[in-house]
Amino acid sequence: MKSILVTGGAGFIGSHLVRVLVNKYPNYNIINLDKLTYAGNLENLRDVEEKENYTFVKGDICDFQLLESLYTKYSIDGVIHLAAESHVDRSIKDPFAFAQTNVMGTLYLLQAAKNYWGANGKEGFQGKLFYHVSTDEVYGSLELDNTFFTEQTTYDPHSPYSASKASSDHFVRAYSDTFGLPIIISNCSNNYGSYQFPEKLIPLFINNIKNNKPLPVYGKGENVRDWLFVDDHVRAIDLIFHKGRKGETYNIGGFNEWKNIDLIKILIKTADKQLGRAPGTSDSLITYVTDRAGHDLRYAIDSSKLHNELGWSPSLQFEEGIEKTVKWYLENEEWLKRVTSGEYKKYYTEMYHNR
Ligand code: NAD
Ligand code: DAU
Repeated sequence: MKSILVTGGAGFIGSHLVRVLVNKYPNYNIINLDKLTYAGNLENLRDVEEKENYTFVKGDICDFQLLESLYTKYSIDGVIHLAAESHVDRSIKDPFAFAQTNVMGTLYLLQAAKNYWGANGKEGFQGKLFYHVSTDEVYGSLELDNTFFTEQTTYDPHSPYSASKASSDHFVRAYSDTFGLPIIISNCSNNYGSYQFPEKLIPLFINNIKNNKPLPVYGKGENVRDWLFVDDHVRAIDLIFHKGRKGETYNIGGFNEWKNIDLIKILIKTADKQLGRAPGTSDSLITYVTDRAGHDLRYAIDSSKLHNELGWSPSLQFEEGIEKTVKWYLENEEWLKRVTSGEYKKYYTEMYHNR
């Protein structure tokens, strides 16, 4: 029996990952540690919560005593670390929460892993792995040309979010270089799919189209993102966790770049069709608003290393992924209503009122 500690498993990507691990590996014990911040939701995991090989622990990755007790209690063999503050706009408003969870939380997890696995010397590191899930935003911003981020691209983060993720990546590598901790890092592009909190572009805009609310496009809508369906990211994490080379970094991306405004037009077209509205009905909701401070112009990932070494490629055509995603949010009205009640209303007013 292998015991895997997944952090942030009640969030968007984490819940998709936990579902796959629990169902695909009945001989693994999956322990999901999540603080259940506004972004974490146990509803995302209703279908696996009764499984024998699944345990949920509500707790903070900054609680070092809790971490030490979990490594021991569950004899943890591997960590897949996703817990983070993940929204760029929130990091502009409250950078401290990002330094605390993303930097300090990662450091506490690393130290607890080192203490537990290395208690009797470095032999204890054999067969263990600390897998850190990171982002392409650590590489900074590209021009509107045909360059890509590779694993060799120099780090150049611009937002407090990406600075905190870059810092956490450096700590993970430092624990490998200094203490010999077995680690892998992956840096992925923008994910989309079900169960994403509606503060991020795609679920926010689908929800607003449905409710005939303005669609706040930052700046001129000309920023470019490389979109990947969340199931493809999870498949990459599973593959890298099992087959990746220790100490390595793998970039994960969709080779699927879209200017925001073009993506938004596809969302409108798809949502209007699924809502039974005439084509073009929601075009008038597009509203250009003040740009995000320090807004990175373009992200684009070269994932050839992952493809060449481990045979991974994205599986889904973007239009098909968007159809499925719009359908999921329109069909899961109750989920959307629940996550957008309470704190969300305050967030929305602060973020978009008078923007
Ligand atoms: P999310 O915001 O949806 O989920 C984050 C989860 O972490 C939530 O369940 C939250 O409750 C939990 N969490 C937050 N602080 C915690 C703490 N102190 N202790 C324990 N749990 C805590 O995030 P996501 O979009 O699923 O991203 C997951 C990871 O993947 C993050 O590390 C993010 O940087 C990375 N990533 C995300 C994307 C993307 O497009 N969403 C792309 C590349 C990388
Ligand atoms: O690249 C990976 C990253 O992708 C992850 O590490 C982050 O966790 C994730 O949040 C995401 O970051 P972005 O900032 O790219 O995603 P977001 O959905 O917030 O924004 C996507 C683009 O849309 C970006 O150019 C900003 C723009 N945007 C966003 C919002 C929320 C708008 O124009 N209007 C909006 O209201």
